[in-house]
Amino acid sequence: MTGPIRRDPRLFPLSHDHHQALARAREATLAVDGSVPPQDVATLTALAERCAAYVTEHLEPHFKREEKHLLPVSVARFGRDDDLVVRVKEEHAMVRKLTRRLTDPKDKAPLTGRLAAWAKALVDHVRFEEREWFEALQNSLPDKELERLGRLLANGGDPAREAPRKLAAKESVTKAVAAKKATAQPPPKKVAPKKSVARTAAPKKSGAAKPKPRKGR
Ligand SMILES: [Fe+2]
Ligand SMILES: [Fe+2]
Repeated sequence: MTGPIRRDPRLFPLSHDHHQALARAREATLAVDGSVPPQDVATLTALAERCAAYVTEHLEPHFKREEKHLLPVSVARFGRDDDLVVRVKEEHAMVRKLTRRLTDPKDKAPLTGRLAAWAKALVDHVRFEEREWFEALQNSLPDKELERLGRLLANGGDPAREAPRKLAAKESVTKAVAAKKATAQPPPKKVAPKKSVARTAAPKKSGAAKPKPRKGR
């Protein structure tokens, strides 16, 4: 029997997304497994559209965070051909494919079957990540690396959200440098020799240079 999973807090943002994914998958499963009265086509179609919209708005950004931040770390740690790495990629591709089928008008398979397949793939994927991938990461990554991942995930792991912070920091540095320059003493100006001195100088008085009369002997 598997014990409770103790998730490293630095991976909480992704685990939180997983809870939402399970809730959405459960809604789809209940609609098609006979737990509720049979749904009409319009209701099922609306449900399928909501599931597809959920993927676009929430699950796809989650996948991208995992692919951008966790997969490279996993490749570096376990190797490019490691089962965990390969399975994450394959299952992301599968969930994306099954999501496209939810709203594909050319897909003639019953919508109940498509919803059931989508929900099962999503549940299986979340369980795999929580029980195997995240477990392997938090048990093998150095604390420093988990800290780095935690910081990335805490701000959404989205470079677009990180960019304004970097820009603000850069502007702050620029302003600080400008202020420092403004308060610094300017270098002494070179004073150009007054060329007009000779022209403006008062003319010598004609008798000014008369020698003093010598005292008689
Ligand atoms: Fe994933
Ligand atoms: Fe995930």
